[in-house]
Amino acid sequence: MTNIRALEWDGEALLLLDQRQLPARTAWIRCATAGEVASAIASLVVRGAPAIGAAAAWGAVLASRTATDDAELGEQLETLRSARPTAVNLRRAVDRVEAAMAAAPRDRRLQAALAEARAIESEDADACRAMARLGADLLGGGPPVEVLTHCNTGALATAGVGTALGVVRELAARGRLERLWACEARPVLQGARLTAWEALQDGLPITLVVDSAAATVLASRPIAAVLVGADRIAADGSVANKIGTHPLAVLAARHGVPFHVVAPTSTVDLSVPGGDAIPVEERDGDEVRRVRGVLVAPEDVAVFNPAFDVTPPDLVTAIVTERGVARPPFREDLARLAGGESA
Ligand code: MRU
Repeated sequence: MTNIRALEWDGEALLLLDQRQLPARTAWIRCATAGEVASAIASLVVRGAPAIGAAAAWGAVLASRTATDDAELGEQLETLRSARPTAVNLRRAVDRVEAAMAAAPRDRRLQAALAEARAIESEDADACRAMARLGADLLGGGPPVEVLTHCNTGALATAGVGTALGVVRELAARGRLERLWACEARPVLQGARLTAWEALQDGLPITLVVDSAAATVLASRPIAAVLVGADRIAADGSVANKIGTHPLAVLAARHGVPFHVVAPTSTVDLSVPGGDAIPVEERDGDEVRRVRGVLVAPEDVAVFNPAFDVTPPDLVTAIVTERGVARPPFREDLARLAGGESA
């Protein structure tokens, strides 16, 4: 459904499509150390919960290759884990590669790490395909529909066709997509720069709106569903996702539009009971004061710049995972679907 890729392992190093430069340029960055991968994750060269999980897994492979002893390996893995705090996929992917290495004889550790990183990537690609089908099924049959999305949840954000954007791709493949409405996602503009670019590359009918136009779209268009991804889902169904997701859920409820979260079980964190316990990343104020480097606010104004918000479960209609669809009140369904994931 797409040829777009966010990351490639070339056998020696991790290649990352530099998403900071899109849509102006398609440039790749080569990371040969775990530290370089961690910096690339922190600076948003690669972003999106499943994609940073996959990138971190390859970072752990690089750590296993360059670390001179166990202590240094541990430090490098910790640097990867702490590159960003909200998406649980990141920590979980590093834990998986570490456990695979620990279970292997010392002289087979690198092979074990490589196999685990490959598995994490291919499992995510499979999960994306499954979620795309389940998410499209959820919108039933009938004439083509219009949907609204936020941020970027596509091939750039995963190792496959995407989560919410994967559902959009599947709707298009079934001849059931009338239009994708995309919010720009201030301040980093993942919607404007990345979702719009992905959609146009793949011929999806898309209209971009500023975040504050979402109410107008929901009030004036026959939107079949709001489709978003997630960075971490708590045991009660609270959903941490790109800042601006919670207001969309409030608007969707007000306008009687279903609000569907599409996320793999690797994003569900049953060890976190509710939304209050999800760590929300705060990023540099200059992301708000400046747009693509140009000052749009006084240089010394105080800024609050949370990268994510938490949507309470009562505003969520359904959570689509690769193993099935969780419904309110979510706790039981999530425990059943994601129970096999480690905390
Ligand atoms: O700050 P980002 O760009 O990493 O935030 C990404 C999101 O919030 C996505 O919606 C989420 O990671 C799901 S991506 C499939």
